[in-house]
Amino acid sequence: MDMAAIERAKEHFGKVVKEQMERVEQMKRASSWTDLSKKDRIVIGIVGGDGIGPYICAHARTVLEFLLGEEIAAGKVELRTIEGLTIENRVRLLKPLPPEVLVELKRCDVILKGPTTTPKKGDPWPNIESANVSMRRELDLFANVRPVRVPSKSIDWMFFRENTEGAYILGSKGVNVTDDLAFDFCVATTQGCERIIRLAFDYAKKNGIGKVTVVTKANVVKATDGKFLGVAERVAKDYPGIKWDDWFIDIMTAKLLDEARRHEFKVMVMPNLYGDIITDEAAQIQGGVGTAGSANIGTRYAMFEAIHGSAPRMVEEGRAAYADPSSIIKAAAMLLNHIGRTEMSRRLEMALDICCQYERRLVITGRPNGASGEQFAQYLMDTLKDQDLEMRWNAYQGTK
Ligand code: IPM
Ligand code: MG
Repeated sequence: MDMAAIERAKEHFGKVVKEQMERVEQMKRASSWTDLSKKDRIVIGIVGGDGIGPYICAHARTVLEFLLGEEIAAGKVELRTIEGLTIENRVRLLKPLPPEVLVELKRCDVILKGPTTTPKKGDPWPNIESANVSMRRELDLFANVRPVRVPSKSIDWMFFRENTEGAYILGSKGVNVTDDLAFDFCVATTQGCERIIRLAFDYAKKNGIGKVTVVTKANVVKATDGKFLGVAERVAKDYPGIKWDDWFIDIMTAKLLDEARRHEFKVMVMPNLYGDIITDEAAQIQGGVGTAGSANIGTRYAMFEAIHGSAPRMVEEGRAAYADPSSIIKAAAMLLNHIGRTEMSRRLEMALDICCQYERRLVITGRPNGASGEQFAQYLMDTLKDQDLEMRWNAYQGTK
């Protein structure tokens, strides 16, 4: 037996444990929420990302400029381009999040981010950590909030995905102990579970939703998922008006396809990896991952993004101009809500519903036989200009 390999693995594990214990101490000193709606000036950082990222991000920016034009002119809002988060630059520096980019990000209040390529073993790139995962950790964006709505099917889901722990946090710190033996780590902390579960219950309470569904695989993944479920049980006691139930991730993914039951689910909260998987499934039910937006929220910073990847193939095949910008525009609507521009955000959501789900005067196919991202953004802004937008939206309710 390779005793030296065992010693190296033990030493590695020791370091990982120490880091996580320090993180727990940091979380215990948790800071309170920054209320951005009270700030005189808001800086929105815009990060293009890779692949189709810069293309779809540009359309989201046009829409934000259209909506925030007056506030930008008055100096109350700044849209600030942040360069350097491309795969080329990350690979050149061998850093998932180049330090100078992180400094710039920390100077912003909120960030709108295009998809960033995440290398895996065997890709032409070195196997560096995901920029998303790194940014979520560095800015402590612990809540990944992903809405999925299909009014015609009575689906109104809000997913709260834990964003800084689980199988992700040490995703790039697993060990190949020998050529034949590999370990990855999955982490759960009381503080980490509690803050995401509380956020889900708070959301339910604020929005008059009577039930929260906790999703784990606690029957098998006993330590970490067991902790998540245990914390949920305790937190739920603080919300006597809200019922809660617990489901395992496997049956939960099946239930999202069960047309008779799925509308009963409203608010769902879960560890990181399950949230990653189930939100792609949910987005597909809504019309594809290209239609879903995502908020990554922490007490100080927040980052908003599409839930899909950078689709390098679309760029290689010359189709980037036909990429669907609706997911990142949806993320921009969530951003507006987060900075207290609630009415603007609501109108943008309604316009997106009209353009993507009801009226669909333009259809994006991802190919030249469909509308381009630019045409879609124009259609959306024309819809936003309509004084009767709300009436138009109301007219569609219950029709499809
Ligand atoms: C997402 C993405 C990311 C994740 C990738 C790009 C690392 O799939 O935001 O869901 O797994 O979290
Ligand atoms: Mg994902």
